[in-house]
Amino acid sequence: MYAEPLTAVERFQFDESVAHVFPDMIERSVPGYNTILHMIGVFTQRFVQRESRCYDLGCSLGAVTRSMRRNINHGGCRIVAVDNSMAMLERCRAILEKDDSLVPVDMVCADIQDVAIVNASVVVLNFTLQFIPLCARSALLCRIHEGLLPGGVLVLSEKIRFTDSGQQAFQTEMHHAFKKSMGYSELEISQKRAALERVLLPESLEEHGARLSMAGFRNHHTWFQCFNFVSFVARK
Ligand SMILES: C[S@@+](CC[C@H](N)C(=O)[O-])C[C@H]1O[C@@H](n2cnc3c(N)ncnc32)[C@H](O)[C@@H]1O
Repeated sequence: MYAEPLTAVERFQFDESVAHVFPDMIERSVPGYNTILHMIGVFTQRFVQRESRCYDLGCSLGAVTRSMRRNINHGGCRIVAVDNSMAMLERCRAILEKDDSLVPVDMVCADIQDVAIVNASVVVLNFTLQFIPLCARSALLCRIHEGLLPGGVLVLSEKIRFTDSGQQAFQTEMHHAFKKSMGYSELEISQKRAALERVLLPESLEEHGARLSMAGFRNHHTWFQCFNFVSFVARK
């Protein structure tokens, strides 16, 4: 998408052109993406509860949903997969139809800020919170906490920023090097970065930690980090 010079780099959107290349784009942009997906399956196996719901908020093409589905071994569970991009959801539906798991999936085209979270044992925000306006993030996490059953978990993966400028520069440089190693050119990297500016708003480890505590989670742990990408697990 960003291989040729663009006269004006438009604001990044999860439209048809992004949905078309999404699996390739996310694998080449997020270090450890496949490990995180695998471990979401491990978290699901450990924390899913009988007759409960698992939520995939910002599901894109359903990679998290598929990982959860393969690891739900209790009866009466269903997955709620939510995205506000119709282009993503249509492709997601086609992918899930080919999947042979019997765990039901409710696909919802909506803003995750408007979706009721109820009877949840596992909730996943895999690189989605970073696209929600900063002022709306606390309310969303409070609603997730409220909708979780006792013992339930939130897995939250995000691109982060660092308050120390030396560390910010180092981690950004290494992320850049990772993308080059995955075959992206300097032009692709810089045009995509420009498109994401003011759309993807990263926060620091400290800001995420404080919000998880404020939302009521009894504890949270950073279980994954590679450069400026982290994943937390927070327990109710
Ligand atoms: C980086 S992708 C998430 C990747 C996906 N969770 C995965 O692991 O493959 C972000 C997704 O969140 C969706 N999204 C962004 N803001 C949203 C919102 N307010 N409500 C619902 N979906 C949203 C986008 O359409 C996009 O599909």
